[in-house]
Amino acid sequence: MGKLAGRRAIITGGAAGIGAAAARIFAEAGARVAVFDVNAEGGERVAAEVRQAGGDAIFLPTDITQPEAVEAAVAEVVERFGGLEILYNNAGGATAVDGSLLEIPLEEFWRTIGVDLYGSFLCCRFAIPRIAASVQGSDGITGSGAVINSTSIRAMKGTGGADAYTSAKGGVLTLTRALAKQCAPKRIRVNAVAPGAVLTERTRAMGMTGDDDGTDPARPIRTGRPSEVAQVACFLASDEASLINGAVIPVDSGANAY
Ligand SMILES: NC(=O)c1ccc[n+]([C@@H]2O[C@H](COP(=O)([O-])OP(=O)(O)OC[C@H]3O[C@@H](n4cnc5c(N)ncnc54)[C@H](O)[C@@H]3O)[C@@H](O)[C@H]2O)c1
Repeated sequence: MGKLAGRRAIITGGAAGIGAAAARIFAEAGARVAVFDVNAEGGERVAAEVRQAGGDAIFLPTDITQPEAVEAAVAEVVERFGGLEILYNNAGGATAVDGSLLEIPLEEFWRTIGVDLYGSFLCCRFAIPRIAASVQGSDGITGSGAVINSTSIRAMKGTGGADAYTSAKGGVLTLTRALAKQCAPKRIRVNAVAPGAVLTERTRAMGMTGDDDGTDPARPIRTGRPSEVAQVACFLASDEASLINGAVIPVDSGANAY
């Protein structure tokens, strides 16, 4: 039996990159997966790939910045799956027009806050009561609910140069800790992954190559692959992480040490 056998999960931003890897890995671990994304073509493709591999996945076109859309999509997941235990708030990411305080277009600041922070907030708002209802009566060791947020090494370190993104992910990091305390009595653990550089189509288009192999003695850091983050999210979603709550886990090849 997989570590997520019998669990029902929402993965936002599951049409590409880390979220698509998570859809595959969560399904392989036994979860029924609902992908939320604005990219309908990618979302349908990922859900179909999961089903072809023997897993169970649906795609629901959902813009996570729209409260009514999120509320309706979460309700549809509960109706179709019969419950919900896991929310992976993965959608987001910096764009090439992010920059430093004086350079960044002001609308980009609000776009980033809208997707990365407000979108995660909205998904928590509508999914957490549903998760609480599904895990009611669990002992908190087995069968607990789990929220996994996606922050960044940038927020942990306060790295400059993508100031909208860093602000949004800082909010996600703090929201994670605040919700962890509030959700513990409901048997829901709330944690976050904090990736460093990870090679996806988006980051490749922004100039990332992933050629580094981590053997430079001055800075032995390598670029991660989407599955390396998704595996950690899968662990946090599972009962193997039953004593982990309010944690922010760097998944960054050690970049947080520099
Ligand atoms: N790739 C990295 O180097 C890296 C580093 C640190 C943190 N992260 C975080 O990991 C997460 C995934 O990153 P990625 O590189 O896989 O990104 P990605 O761009 O490959 O995938 C993000 C997905 O989110 C979707 N999305 C965007 N706006 C949305 C909206 N309003 N509603 C629903 N879906 C929406 C996109 O369509 C896309 O499918 C992000 O939160 C990102 O900030 C990534």
